[in-house]
Amino acid sequence: MQDNQFDLTGKVAVVTGASRGLGQYLGRALARAGADLVITSRKLGDLTPFKEEIEALGRRALPLELDLRDEASIRAMAPKAIKHYGKIDVLVNNAGCNVRKPAVDITWEDWNLVLDTNLRGSFFVAQAFAPHMIANGYGRVINIGSVTSVFGYAGIGPYCASRGGIKQLTMSLADEWGVHGITVNCLAPGWFKTKQNAVLYENPEWVEYLKDRIPLKRPGQPNDLNGAIVFLASDASAYITGQTLLVDGGISTGAIRATTAKK
Ligand SMILES: NC(=O)c1ccc[n+]([C@@H]2O[C@H](COP(=O)([O-])OP(=O)(O)OC[C@H]3O[C@@H](n4cnc5c(N)ncnc54)[C@H](OP(=O)(O)O)[C@@H]3O)[C@@H](O)[C@H]2O)c1
Repeated sequence: MQDNQFDLTGKVAVVTGASRGLGQYLGRALARAGADLVITSRKLGDLTPFKEEIEALGRRALPLELDLRDEASIRAMAPKAIKHYGKIDVLVNNAGCNVRKPAVDITWEDWNLVLDTNLRGSFFVAQAFAPHMIANGYGRVINIGSVTSVFGYAGIGPYCASRGGIKQLTMSLADEWGVHGITVNCLAPGWFKTKQNAVLYENPEWVEYLKDRIPLKRPGQPNDLNGAIVFLASDASAYITGQTLLVDGGISTGAIRATTAKK
């Protein structure tokens, strides 16, 4: 057994949606623990600053284009990643989106956008890497879920459906791929201010309400996911699969409004 089970030196991790936000928090943590990265965005140019940051840490970073709503894009990305490094050890299915509207106003297109991106997209990215991981007898798939994987919030129905689905998908893939040495877990962050939800944080009343509902009394900060992502990507979690790990300051002990509108 290696001395430091959390060491990712020599491992290669794919992080989808690494042009900003949580994808960068997660990628940075993995690189600091020793991993080389594949980073994705719909726009290659948006990955340049992060690629440079990872290289400054002494790690390698391969930027690749990926649109989760486009099957051909998913099928093209995985072979490029595998060919470049010769192997992929870790997949972090992070890219995703949200639509905040009352359920009665959700359109067919809103539903498709969120479910296609968050749930269908994550499944097919995992599927694209699975034959390679199966052949290697090793893999760590980490699906990014949310508190909404385990709780339902008003105003984000499709998102909650997609994140609940991610939790169930995680368990199904864990059951199917465990025999091949692949673990599949769900990392479920609580509330982190990013582009996806920044508009909510413009309302001080809502921010106070949010903080009040979080037992640790603050939203998540960029480094708050570091321990969990490195743990799930490393040999330290070798006997853990199919699980959902909430990193949420404890908010999953209670409930919150997910929009600024009062009920
Ligand atoms: N922020 C939170 O509090 C929070 C909490 C729990 C879970 N999450 C989840 O964590 C993930 C990252 O969230 P975030 O807050 O960092 O959001 P963000 O700042 O909006 O970033 C979303 C990322 O996903 C990528 N993306 C969006 N649609 C895509 C598509 N169709 N194809 C490929 N990539 C796509 C974006 O890449 P490009 O636009 O560059 O293509 C971007 O890099 C999401 O899945 C989100 O649901 C967030």
